[in-house]
Amino acid sequence: MTAPLLRVEDLRIDFATEHGWANVVNGVSFEVGPGEIVGLVGESGSGKSVTSLSILGLIPTPPGRISGGHVWYDGRDLTALPVSELRNVRGNDISMIFQEPMTSLNPAFTIGDQIAEAYRRHRGGTKKAAFARAAEMLDLVGIPNARGRVRDYPHEFSGGMRQRAMIAMALICGPKLLIADEPTTALDVTVQAQIIELLRSLREETGCGIVFITHDLGVVAELCDRVVVMYAGEVVETAVGRDLFVQPKHPYTEGLLTAMPQLGERDRELPYIPGRTPEPWRIPEGCRFNPRCRYTHDGCRADAVPLRALDGGRASRCVRIDELTLAGAR
Ligand SMILES: Nc1ncnc2c1ncn2[C@@H]1O[C@H](COP(=O)(O)OP(=O)(O)OP(=O)(O)O)[C@@H](O)[C@H]1O
Ligand SMILES: [Mg+2]
Repeated sequence: MTAPLLRVEDLRIDFATEHGWANVVNGVSFEVGPGEIVGLVGESGSGKSVTSLSILGLIPTPPGRISGGHVWYDGRDLTALPVSELRNVRGNDISMIFQEPMTSLNPAFTIGDQIAEAYRRHRGGTKKAAFARAAEMLDLVGIPNARGRVRDYPHEFSGGMRQRAMIAMALICGPKLLIADEPTTALDVTVQAQIIELLRSLREETGCGIVFITHDLGVVAELCDRVVVMYAGEVVETAVGRDLFVQPKHPYTEGLLTAMPQLGERDRELPYIPGRTPEPWRIPEGCRFNPRCRYTHDGCRADAVPLRALDGGRASRCVRIDELTLAGAR
């Protein structure tokens, strides 16, 4: 295997809360290779955004802090890099598409100016050349009449077009790694399909690695080469390709898969995982998922469960996995 682009190793993040330090990411590790799309999935509050923000040093400090682990990129530990050097990595080597595109664009400047500014910050050159490059990028991400629309303000773009503009901004410096945090969640399904197609073709053309964050397992099945499932700040399962959907190796993943809506099942009552992700200051003893798990027995409540490597490049954080047969996607 070629050397990974990014290696997140045993990452730990805490936030100061009124209940004291709360641990929101605990020992998270994963790798992204060149041209590889890795999906990071889990319910709301599982720590997906916080993990991805920490890669670029964007955790608000205080109240947050990285209390352990490393983020290796190009031979350097990004968690130990001075802010000035990290700024060069941001947008240049590693770009991020944020969860909320509406708040990431400034309403007072044209789309073209904002994309051009991202380019000039890292590459310099004239305003005119950067603006022309911005128009090219808008064209690349599929904005019709890009040369005309580049002078529009954000409110003149639809939601899908704004998200494309954000992708154009993220890609203008030709990053080696793109982190996309729920880039399609706010969009309707046809636009969502177009954005996914766009990311896939960008990977083909530029060979960039992508971390794709979502709670939509359908999107993961379509797009990702590898999947990392997070629950309550921990990785509970990792799998290659579609293996996860054929046979999950953690009861939490099984729950997510059975909760997936199916076409033509409008009247079926959706199965769901009872309860919700625990607050970070109320993490249960033993397996973090045990209060919600239908397979829990006494052994699950005692000690914290380590992530264990399984055959086929997979891993699971379930002590009972050898005796359970879990259901895949229907
Ligand atoms: N600025 C902050 N201050 C305090 N706690 C925070 C802060 N940002 C995130 N958290 C906490 O960290 C945990 C993980 O949050 P995170 O935003 O990473 O979840 P997520 O998996 O991205 O969820 P979603 O699917 O809703 O985006 C949550 O418990 C959240 O409340
Ligand atoms: Mg998030």
